Amino acid sequence: MKRDPVAFLKSDMTELRGNNLEWVIRYLEGGSKPHCIVNGKEVLMLNTNNYLGLATHPKIIQAAIDATKKYGAGAGAVPVIAGSFDLTREFQEKFAKYKEVEASLLCQTGFAVNSGLIPMLVGKPDIVVSDELNHGSIIDGVRLSGAKRVIYKHRDISDLEQQLKEAEKGGPRRICIITDGVFSMDGDMAPLDKIVNVAEEFGAMIFVDDCHGEGVLGKDFSGKGIVAHFNLQGRVHVEGGSMSKGFGVFGGTVAGSKDLIEFCTNKSRTYLLSTAHPPGVVAANIASIEVVESEPQHVKAVWEHTNYFKKEVQNMGYDTGRSETPIIPLIIGDPGKAQELARILFEEENIYGTPIVFPMVARELSRIRVQMNALLTKDDLNAALSSIEKVGKKLDII
Ligand SMILES: Cc1ncc(COP(=O)(O)O)c(C=O)c1O
Repeated sequence: MKRDPVAFLKSDMTELRGNNLEWVIRYLEGGSKPHCIVNGKEVLMLNTNNYLGLATHPKIIQAAIDATKKYGAGAGAVPVIAGSFDLTREFQEKFAKYKEVEASLLCQTGFAVNSGLIPMLVGKPDIVVSDELNHGSIIDGVRLSGAKRVIYKHRDISDLEQQLKEAEKGGPRRICIITDGVFSMDGDMAPLDKIVNVAEEFGAMIFVDDCHGEGVLGKDFSGKGIVAHFNLQGRVHVEGGSMSKGFGVFGGTVAGSKDLIEFCTNKSRTYLLSTAHPPGVVAANIASIEVVESEPQHVKAVWEHTNYFKKEVQNMGYDTGRSETPIIPLIIGDPGKAQELARILFEEENIYGTPIVFPMVARELSRIRVQMNALLTKDDLNAALSSIEKVGKKLDII
């Protein structure tokens, strides 16, 4: 029989559907904010990384419009050829100052930072020591590097130390410890202070992906991220980040020494080979940093909501795992039940909370991931809490 070269497309999807693991895209008919129209229906949105609500901030929107009028819609080239604007230089200088580092680089996305830079920082003669729950983009970056990958138990410093001792025995050229700053599915934080102490003992490079910490963590509601939270400025070699989450706009960032930024500019394949951001995006990123610096009320609000909401769902009997941040998982276990909770919340209660199932998390830890947003009101939170309690009881979850 003649082979059907694409039969697997349908059969793989049938299998995913059969296992309740299919992702179905819903479409927003307006801005990403707590009250929005999704698939024609007004819902309360509890599932975006737009923690500070800046995706629809008037000053940021205006900056995008002004820059688009002045510079046009697209960059026209990769940054090293002809796609970098004076705006980009301004962003990078501002961001470096904000992050308290020597220099920064605006890259295409947070994913592109990990998949483009990690394979240049380490290679075959090296060892990467990686937290077991690191984001998929880190995992892909490490795979591309060809370096030996050693996994340490999630946030477990004694296991990390053990793995480093083992790693040393093989006489690697470099050792790199890689961790998420805030773990995106559980909302817990890497014990970065302890990781830095151990890394310094072993002469290991430290790479922190702070995509979910930036805009959220940091003393006095600065949003500077996990390095500032632990007062570790100058002791972390590579900080990867994203302008697409707390800052509400778009893009990946690298922050660190001048040496690091020159290296990344010249070597990261995703930076070298992918078109630069539209100028409107770059200007919006600049405005976003200015807003975070001058209006700390957004970071403050997201933390107030987080503390209130988390306490209330825990009192109802929901398992919120190890959450320490505005990422609040409601861990259900069974993927079918997690999907059902999300479906009823959406269809009957107008609450948009996405089920998170394999491969984002282990099958038996399926959940709804709720994320706080500074623009939510107390009434919004109470309405969501009462729906989550009602449906949780109906499905025998709580
Ligand atoms: C920990 C982590 N790293 C990297 C990324 C990718 O960032 P971006 O959306 O900017 O590509 C994500 C996105 O969800 C993330 O959660």
